[in-house]
Amino acid sequence: MKKIIIAIDGLSSTGKSTLAKRLAKHLNYTYVDSGAMYRAVALYVLEKKLINGGELNTPKMIIELPNISIAFEHNMDINSFDVYLNDVKVSKAIRSMEVSNAVSIVAAIPQVRQQLVRLQQQMGAQKGIVMDGRDIGTVVFPNAELKLFMTASANIRAKRRYDELSTNSSSPSLQEVLDNINLRDELDSTRKDSPLLKSNDAIEFDNSQLSQEQQFEKIMELVNSCLQL
Ligand code: DC
Repeated sequence: MKKIIIAIDGLSSTGKSTLAKRLAKHLNYTYVDSGAMYRAVALYVLEKKLINGGELNTPKMIIELPNISIAFEHNMDINSFDVYLNDVKVSKAIRSMEVSNAVSIVAAIPQVRQQLVRLQQQMGAQKGIVMDGRDIGTVVFPNAELKLFMTASANIRAKRRYDELSTNSSSPSLQEVLDNINLRDELDSTRKDSPLLKSNDAIEFDNSQLSQEQQFEKIMELVNSCLQL
């Protein structure tokens, strides 16, 4: 059976990963959350105290890059992948606000992007993959058979992320989440290297008003037409 690459890009908290996981499960494809890789690098940078008050020690971080190993392991219980940073499971730790505040700064460094893009391209070499991120359709897999670009209003995205995070008393406020989302959108869209851009051949989806079910159905129609080509 023909296998394709599905590239899903878009602003933060547009439901890319929920959609990507569901598509991967349905198609029996591999799902890769490329944002988790950038988050793991940001966690490493925080642990090594290479970032201080939003200032990254870029030369030191570039020297440290060969010491950073990122791996995914399938977890049957959650039907998703656990993320490992140098053999330590960090799936939860990479979702903290501290990491969210540092990640766009780290992701703007070209050497970080080169290292992670190489790894992402290796993961997709056999096709049969759904990958979500910011530059998947433009840089990582410019020849992907299906490219989607997800958008939704900032308030709706902040509420979604807030609901995801507000499981304990140290959770950030809705305003903090909204501020972080706005700041990351700005940094991700204006950085010099591989900014968040809609590829000309990507199909744009504003899912502010769509249920997950409606969105999945519409996108499966697109997937099926790609598979029949
Ligand atoms: O998808 P996410 O919000 O977990 O991604 C975290 C950050 O990583 C995001 O602010 C931008 C960066 N990122 C990127 O630059 N390129 C990607 N392909 C994926 C994420």
